[in-house]
Amino acid sequence: MNKGIIEKTEKWVKAQLINEESGHDWYHILRVTRTAQQIAKEEHANDEIVTLAALVHDLADDKVAQNEKEALKKIDEWFKENGLGDEAIAQIISIITTISFKGGNGQPVSTLEGKIVQDADRLDALGAIGIARTFVYSGHKGQPMYDPELPVRNEMSIEEYRHGKSSAVHHFYEKLLKLKDQMNTTTGMKLAARRHAFMETYLEQFYQEWNGR
Ligand code: ADP
Ligand code: NI
Repeated sequence: MNKGIIEKTEKWVKAQLINEESGHDWYHILRVTRTAQQIAKEEHANDEIVTLAALVHDLADDKVAQNEKEALKKIDEWFKENGLGDEAIAQIISIITTISFKGGNGQPVSTLEGKIVQDADRLDALGAIGIARTFVYSGHKGQPMYDPELPVRNEMSIEEYRHGKSSAVHHFYEKLLKLKDQMNTTTGMKLAARRHAFMETYLEQFYQEWNGR
């Protein structure tokens, strides 16, 4: 693995996400990258592709980038400048355009490396970290932590969410508790099962305290 390009890319990404407040901050990237590397080892995937794709996976997301096309072009140029081969660059670009929920229009991720980065990204929405991110996000959007009178809806788009009413606890049912059944790799599934169980325990305790027991 080419350590130089990875270290350089880490610095490059960190500098861009330093003021990021949408839940896609540098430490999200770092956690996703470490988890993706762990899964890549277990699944015998290409470590360099997985690492680089994980590092840049949110840079072209519409929550982070003003212009997704330009952001992709910038990523492409960055890797070219740093001597990465055309095939590897194409693989990375394909991974980051297909992994997000809306990006790729629901197309399944085709390569093992892409599946791994997607699993790692989803894992960061689960468990203790996932719970924390959800409450931070909800607070940021001015939503309550819970509202027992609100119905549980199916997963909402960001736009619907901005206009509709939800709560942090509702988001568990709208998205988080569904993720364990959407994992691609066996290693991802195992990691998700533990984090899922932790969220169920958390909700049980939450309702007990909410109801004064
Ligand atoms: P990503 O693009 O990394 O998959 P999102 O942008 O959908 O994630 O969400 C970033 C974080 O904010 C995640 O942890 C997610 O669970 C949380 N989040 C997203 N939408 C909501 C919501 N409607 N209510 C509460 N938390 C949310
Ligand atoms: Ni992400």
